[in-house]
Amino acid sequence: MTVRLITRSEDETEQWGRKLASQLREGDCLLLVGELGAGKTCFVRGIAQGLGVEERVTSPTFVLLREHRGRIALYHLDAYRLAGPEDLYQLGVEELAEGDGVLAVEWGDKVRDFFRDDYLEIEIKILGDSVRELSLIPHGDSWKTRMEALFPQLGENGAQAK
Ligand SMILES: Nc1ncnc2c1ncn2[C@@H]1O[C@H](COP(=O)(O)OP(=O)(O)OP(=O)(O)O)[C@@H](O)[C@H]1O
Ligand SMILES: [Mg+2]
Repeated sequence: MTVRLITRSEDETEQWGRKLASQLREGDCLLLVGELGAGKTCFVRGIAQGLGVEERVTSPTFVLLREHRGRIALYHLDAYRLAGPEDLYQLGVEELAEGDGVLAVEWGDKVRDFFRDDYLEIEIKILGDSVRELSLIPHGDSWKTRMEALFPQLGENGAQAK
């Protein structure tokens, strides 16, 4: 069940991040996919707010990985400069991915193979200056169940939520 959402502002994208955060738990992995400026960091900022992180989340492009403390920890990784999945082992991400927090990876498609089949993919497409399409694509049973909890109106095959 893929859920597609249209957002018309940065705020609206953040709000969906906050909403998703209500379903998140320790050990979750989120892969964000979308071109430069699509809104990946913006969505993660909303997730952070929903997890009770107090500082403002900015892009970890140069530091690669940032850790934020909230109700649940948030590990925010930017894979833009990584060569591939093998780099994640060197960064110690294996521990984080099964650890005490939520791992959110920008440019997740570059390191997808690291995550096997239990993650939520968030694909963001630019449709216009301030219009974005967010696709939430569950991989693995736990995500399917949680997508149904978040979007009960959507039935088996998913659909346009908005
Ligand atoms: N509906 C929208 N949702 C999110 N961002 C939007 C929207 N409309 C316009 N924007 C703008 O798009 C930009 C998104 O920036 P953001 O840093 O989140 O992108 P990104 O995908 O993380 O980019 P990068 O690949 O550089 O990390 C911001 O400047 C934001 O103001
Ligand atoms: Mg970013």
